[in-house]
Amino acid sequence: MKGIAFLFFLVAALCVTIGMAWGIQMSASGNHTLSAAHAHLNLIGWVTMGLFGVYYHVVPDAAGKMLAKVHFGVAVAGVVIITPGIVQAVTERGETLAKVGSLLTLVSMLIFLFTVVTNRVKA
Ligand code: HEM
Repeated sequence: MKGIAFLFFLVAALCVTIGMAWGIQMSASGNHTLSAAHAHLNLIGWVTMGLFGVYYHVVPDAAGKMLAKVHFGVAVAGVVIITPGIVQAVTERGETLAKVGSLLTLVSMLIFLFTVVTNRVKA
Protein backbone atom coordinates (compact mmCIF):
# COMPACT_ATOMS: atom_id res chain seq x y z
CA MET A 1 0.00 0.00 0.00
CA LYS A 2 1.26 3.47 -0.85
CA GLY A 3 0.32 7.10 -1.36
CA ILE A 4 -2.95 8.47 -0.05
CA ALA A 5 -4.34 5.00 0.84
CA PHE A 6 -1.32 4.42 3.08
CA LEU A 7 -1.72 7.84 4.71
CA PHE A 8 -5.41 7.20 5.45
CA PHE A 9 -4.50 3.85 7.04
CA LEU A 10 -1.67 5.40 9.03
CA VAL A 11 -4.04 8.01 10.52
CA ALA A 12 -6.71 5.33 11.08
CA ALA A 13 -4.32 3.06 12.99
CA LEU A 14 -3.09 6.01 15.04
CA CYS A 15 -6.66 7.02 15.91
CA VAL A 16 -7.70 3.53 17.03
CA THR A 17 -4.51 3.08 19.07
CA ILE A 18 -5.29 6.29 20.95
CA GLY A 19 -9.02 5.40 21.03
CA MET A 20 -8.38 1.98 22.56
CA ALA A 21 -5.98 3.36 25.17
CA TRP A 22 -8.65 5.96 25.98
CA GLY A 23 -11.29 3.21 26.27
CA ILE A 24 -9.08 1.22 28.64
CA GLN A 25 -8.51 4.37 30.71
CA MET A 26 -12.30 4.94 30.87
CA SER A 27 -12.91 1.34 31.93
CA ALA A 28 -10.15 1.40 34.54
CA SER A 29 -11.28 4.69 36.05
CA GLY A 30 -14.99 3.86 35.86
CA ASN A 31 -15.53 7.35 34.45
CA HIS A 32 -17.38 7.09 31.12
CA THR A 33 -18.15 10.82 30.79
CA LEU A 34 -16.12 11.18 27.61
CA SER A 35 -17.40 7.99 25.92
CA ALA A 36 -19.02 9.99 23.09
CA ALA A 37 -15.64 11.54 22.18
CA HIS A 38 -13.94 8.13 22.40
CA ALA A 39 -16.67 6.67 20.14
CA HIS A 40 -16.27 9.40 17.52
CA LEU A 41 -12.48 9.14 17.50
CA ASN A 42 -12.83 5.42 16.83
CA LEU A 43 -15.72 5.57 14.37
CA ILE A 44 -14.58 8.58 12.33
CA GLY A 45 -10.86 8.11 12.89
CA TRP A 46 -10.59 4.34 12.57
CA VAL A 47 -13.63 3.03 10.70
CA THR A 48 -14.28 5.92 8.30
CA MET A 49 -10.62 6.73 7.59
CA GLY A 50 -9.91 3.03 7.14
CA LEU A 51 -12.74 2.73 4.60
CA PHE A 52 -11.37 5.76 2.73
CA GLY A 53 -8.00 4.00 2.68
CA VAL A 54 -9.52 0.81 1.26
CA TYR A 55 -11.36 2.81 -1.39
CA TYR A 56 -8.26 4.68 -2.54
CA HIS A 57 -6.31 1.41 -2.61
CA VAL A 58 -8.81 -0.29 -4.91
CA VAL A 59 -9.47 2.80 -7.06
CA PRO A 60 -5.97 4.08 -7.88
CA ASP A 61 -7.31 6.54 -10.48
CA ALA A 62 -9.09 8.41 -7.69
CA ALA A 63 -6.05 8.18 -5.39
CA GLY A 64 -3.84 9.89 -7.98
CA LYS A 65 -5.94 13.03 -8.15
CA MET A 66 -5.30 16.31 -6.33
CA LEU A 67 -8.79 16.05 -4.81
CA ALA A 68 -7.69 12.94 -2.87
CA LYS A 69 -5.01 15.04 -1.12
CA VAL A 70 -7.57 17.74 -0.32
CA HIS A 71 -9.88 15.00 0.98
CA PHE A 72 -7.15 13.67 3.25
CA GLY A 73 -6.39 17.12 4.67
CA VAL A 74 -10.05 17.92 5.34
CA ALA A 75 -10.77 14.47 6.84
CA VAL A 76 -7.77 14.62 9.19
CA ALA A 77 -8.58 18.20 10.24
CA GLY A 78 -12.17 17.03 10.92
CA VAL A 79 -11.24 14.20 13.30
CA VAL A 80 -8.48 16.22 14.98
CA ILE A 81 -10.95 19.03 15.71
CA ILE A 82 -14.19 17.13 16.39
CA THR A 83 -12.66 14.87 19.09
CA PRO A 84 -11.57 17.63 21.51
CA GLY A 85 -14.70 19.48 20.39
CA ILE A 86 -16.91 16.71 21.78
CA VAL A 87 -14.85 16.67 24.98
CA GLN A 88 -15.49 20.42 25.34
CA ALA A 89 -19.20 20.04 24.54
CA VAL A 90 -19.71 17.13 26.96
CA THR A 91 -17.92 19.00 29.73
CA GLU A 92 -19.97 22.13 28.96
CA ARG A 93 -17.05 24.31 27.91
CA GLY A 94 -18.45 25.42 24.56
CA GLU A 95 -19.47 23.88 21.25
CA THR A 96 -17.47 25.85 18.70
CA LEU A 97 -14.80 23.19 18.12
CA ALA A 98 -17.45 20.48 17.83
CA LYS A 99 -19.31 22.55 15.23
CA VAL A 100 -16.17 23.25 13.17
CA GLY A 101 -15.09 19.60 13.39
CA SER A 102 -18.55 18.37 12.39
CA LEU A 103 -18.66 20.63 9.34
CA LEU A 104 -15.17 19.56 8.22
CA THR A 105 -16.19 15.92 8.69
CA LEU A 106 -19.31 16.49 6.59
CA VAL A 107 -17.29 18.28 3.88
CA SER A 108 -14.88 15.32 3.87
CA MET A 109 -17.79 12.96 3.24
CA LEU A 110 -19.19 15.23 0.48
CA ILE A 111 -15.76 15.16 -1.21
CA PHE A 112 -15.83 11.37 -0.92
CA LEU A 113 -19.35 11.18 -2.38
CA PHE A 114 -18.22 13.34 -5.33
CA THR A 115 -15.11 11.14 -5.73
CA VAL A 116 -17.13 7.91 -5.75
CA VAL A 117 -19.61 9.25 -8.32
CA THR A 118 -17.00 10.77 -10.65
CA ASN A 119 -14.73 7.71 -10.61
CA ARG A 120 -17.39 5.22 -11.63
CA VAL A 121 -15.98 2.83 -14.21
CA LYS A 122 -18.44 2.35 -17.05
CA ALA A 123 -19.00 -1.30 -17.95
C1 HEM B 1 -9.47 -1.34 23.78
C2 HEM B 1 -10.59 -1.07 23.10
C3 HEM B 1 -11.77 -0.31 23.67
C4 HEM B 1 -12.14 -0.13 24.98
C5 HEM B 1 -11.45 -0.62 26.25
C6 HEM B 1 -13.38 0.65 24.95
C7 HEM B 1 -14.07 1.09 26.08
C8 HEM B 1 -15.25 1.79 26.07
C9 HEM B 1 -15.98 2.25 27.24
C10 HEM B 1 -15.54 2.03 28.70
C11 HEM B 1 -17.10 2.87 26.82
C12 HEM B 1 -18.19 3.51 27.68
C13 HEM B 1 -19.36 2.54 27.82
C14 HEM B 1 -20.56 3.14 28.54
O1 HEM B 1 -20.47 4.23 29.12
O2 HEM B 1 -21.64 2.52 28.48
C15 HEM B 1 -17.11 2.81 25.36
C16 HEM B 1 -18.10 3.31 24.56
C17 HEM B 1 -18.13 3.21 23.20
N1 HEM B 1 -17.12 2.75 22.39
FE1 HEM B 1 -15.39 1.93 23.02
N2 HEM B 1 -13.70 0.91 23.64
C18 HEM B 1 -12.76 0.35 22.83
C19 HEM B 1 -12.73 0.38 21.45
C20 HEM B 1 -13.73 0.90 20.63
C21 HEM B 1 -13.72 0.87 19.18
C22 HEM B 1 -12.61 0.27 18.31
C23 HEM B 1 -14.88 1.46 18.77
C24 HEM B 1 -15.42 1.71 17.39
C25 HEM B 1 -14.85 1.29 16.26
C26 HEM B 1 -15.61 1.87 19.96
C27 HEM B 1 -16.83 2.48 19.96
C28 HEM B 1 -17.54 2.82 21.08
C29 HEM B 1 -18.90 3.35 21.05
C30 HEM B 1 -19.76 3.58 19.82
C31 HEM B 1 -19.26 3.61 22.38
C32 HEM B 1 -20.57 4.16 22.90
C33 HEM B 1 -20.45 5.66 23.12
C34 HEM B 1 -21.67 6.28 23.77
O3 HEM B 1 -22.66 5.58 24.02
O4 HEM B 1 -21.63 7.49 24.02
N3 HEM B 1 -14.87 1.53 21.07
N4 HEM B 1 -15.97 2.17 24.93
